[in-house]
Amino acid sequence: MSSVVVVGIQWGDEGKGKVVDYLTEDAHLVVRFQGGNNAGHTIIIEGKKTALRIIPSGILRPNTRCLLASGVVLDLAVLLEEIKSLSDAGIVVTPERLGIAGEAPLILPYHVGIDQARESLRETKGTKIGTTGKGIGPTYEDAVSRNGIRVSDLCQPEVLKEKLENIVPLKNKYLKEVLGSKEQYSFQEIYDTLIEQSKTILPYLTNVSSELIRARTEGHFIMFEGAQGSLLDIHHGTYPYVTSSSTVAGFACVSAGIGPKHIDYVLGICKAYATRVGEGPFPTEDHGEDGERLRLIGKEFGTVTGRPRRCGWFDAVAVRKAVRINGVDSIIITKMDVLTGFSKIKIGLHYLLDGSPIDDLPLTIEDCQRVEVFYEEMDGWTEDLGGIRKFSDLPVNAQKLINRLSEITETEVGGFSIGPEREQTIITGAGLKKIANRT
Ligand code: IMP
Repeated sequence: MSSVVVVGIQWGDEGKGKVVDYLTEDAHLVVRFQGGNNAGHTIIIEGKKTALRIIPSGILRPNTRCLLASGVVLDLAVLLEEIKSLSDAGIVVTPERLGIAGEAPLILPYHVGIDQARESLRETKGTKIGTTGKGIGPTYEDAVSRNGIRVSDLCQPEVLKEKLENIVPLKNKYLKEVLGSKEQYSFQEIYDTLIEQSKTILPYLTNVSSELIRARTEGHFIMFEGAQGSLLDIHHGTYPYVTSSSTVAGFACVSAGIGPKHIDYVLGICKAYATRVGEGPFPTEDHGEDGERLRLIGKEFGTVTGRPRRCGWFDAVAVRKAVRINGVDSIIITKMDVLTGFSKIKIGLHYLLDGSPIDDLPLTIEDCQRVEVFYEEMDGWTEDLGGIRKFSDLPVNAQKLINRLSEITETEVGGFSIGPEREQTIITGAGLKKIANRT
């Protein structure tokens, strides 16, 4: 059996959770490796909706254990709420079902305050990033500057207390004097809350790296579930309009504490069109009726913030880049059904910058924002795709679109999805079927 990394290869919200849920029937472990509760997805099984932000979608499969690796930033209040709402829905998240890396940094209330205060300040200057306001960036910053509080700190209350006593006043000073914010935090309140939360959280602590190596040695199927999208990657995305973690497949190894040779397959997920939440370049964005229609039919509103997503056409340049930086083996194209009824479907094939063709996102935001996109148009279809279960049953023009997307991304299409239900994900690629043990 194998280890598969599933990553989004656009700007997030590609439908990764749904695909992971579909593929995890036989998975032993599902590992989340970056981001925090800035992510969010809704899984629909037999009409019942489950919203997840931190816990991997594998939790919906009773025989699967989920792990949160060291690169995930954790807001314990949100995690505990999620555990509770899952158990209210009949999915009991015991420490047998979920393991948490002791190295994972904690999102604390002042991180959220700083994230939001910075965004307000940037807004006045017109340089807002459009973060989710969940404290993700400030938490990663503290981890890198070695001022972070990690899950393992909960094991040593005295040390935790000392760290917080030092950090909280500094954060308050920064909030007040630099960011001009009124938000101030009490060290004692944060400490007391963490001690209370630790009673529930500590039993979940595990050694993620050792668990993974053991599972591999025993021949189990392991799945790594990416969050956000490759073009929001801190190193390779449209910086600074990115998230603060590395969202690409390689980071699964770093975060989980395994080597690159322990990954067998990289699966990229992309929509048949494109969306983006928050600010930043989006060359194929459609500001007209088509974009509006994609938003309405595709229900393109953020799961975490409820913000309307910006919508546009498939961007082959961006996806090709994502395929490259992840080492994608095959792609799954989601939300094909949303394109039903469009008489013409556009695909952004390549960019022109000052009249010259370019085949990558330019390095500067200014250039990214002024590229012209060269589009190809394909004929659409009107048939409802909801009941389709085989590639050959798709309308001919939908088949042509999938084949063309494979051609222009230079990547095998291993499947497609035509609706939100579990059985509306269709796997077509032989390699992917084999690796996920799905026939
Ligand atoms: P942050 O991750 O909250 O710092 O936000 C940074 C950027 O990433 C913003 O443009 C967000 O809208 C975007 N972002 C963060 N998480 C997601 C996600 O799960 N889907 C799509 N965009 C996201």
